[in-house]
Amino acid sequence: MLVQGASFVFLALFAVINAQPLKNITTCPDSPHILHDGICYTFGFVSLTWQEAKARCQSNGANLISIRDIKVGTWIKEVTGTVPFWFGLRRSGNGNFAWTEAPHKFDTDGFSDWASGEPNFSTGSCVSMFTPLVESGSMLRSVWKMTPCNEKLNFVCGKPADIA
Ligand SMILES: *[C@@H]1O[C@H](CO)[C@@H](O)[C@H](O)[C@H]1NC(C)=O
Ligand SMILES: *[C@@H]1O[C@H](CO)[C@@H](O)[C@H](O)[C@H]1NC(C)=O
Repeated sequence: MLVQGASFVFLALFAVINAQPLKNITTCPDSPHILHDGICYTFGFVSLTWQEAKARCQSNGANLISIRDIKVGTWIKEVTGTVPFWFGLRRSGNGNFAWTEAPHKFDTDGFSDWASGEPNFSTGSCVSMFTPLVESGSMLRSVWKMTPCNEKLNFVCGKPADIA
């Protein structure tokens, strides 16, 4: 009975896999991770400089994440809460912003989520997500700010999920 049940499950799975897929099956080989919208996210709960955090992500075949639209921006805030963290945006020598994930260019007219008064270039060249202290009663909301790159923060890595 047990064996029959198991083979039924197996056959059912086989049928599902062979059916014309509406959506590709995506997987994340490493753990721990969160699979969201085709990207495998890994959360670095250790404090590193921006450069160290980037290297840590890259040693796992990933990179500091790009936050290029409000969908990802909103989701990532829900996951990280009020924990400040590095993501993949910094200002390079020529003064332009760039995402770590080549070839994505930072679109200055596109999505951004700066705190008021930001970007303040006298504060630093790397961009972190942080939650400003707000008067009680206001909603806590994380936003972007220029931060010294040698500050040590948690970080979020991401890479495209494998397509099975
Ligand atoms: C599934 O993956 C293939 C190959 O990468 C791609 O061409 C196709 O557009 C994908 N389909 C969906 C629904 O994402
Ligand atoms: C920018 O940062 C500097 C140094 O932290 C500070 O003195 C200045 O008031 C900031 N400017 C704005 C517009 O917040």
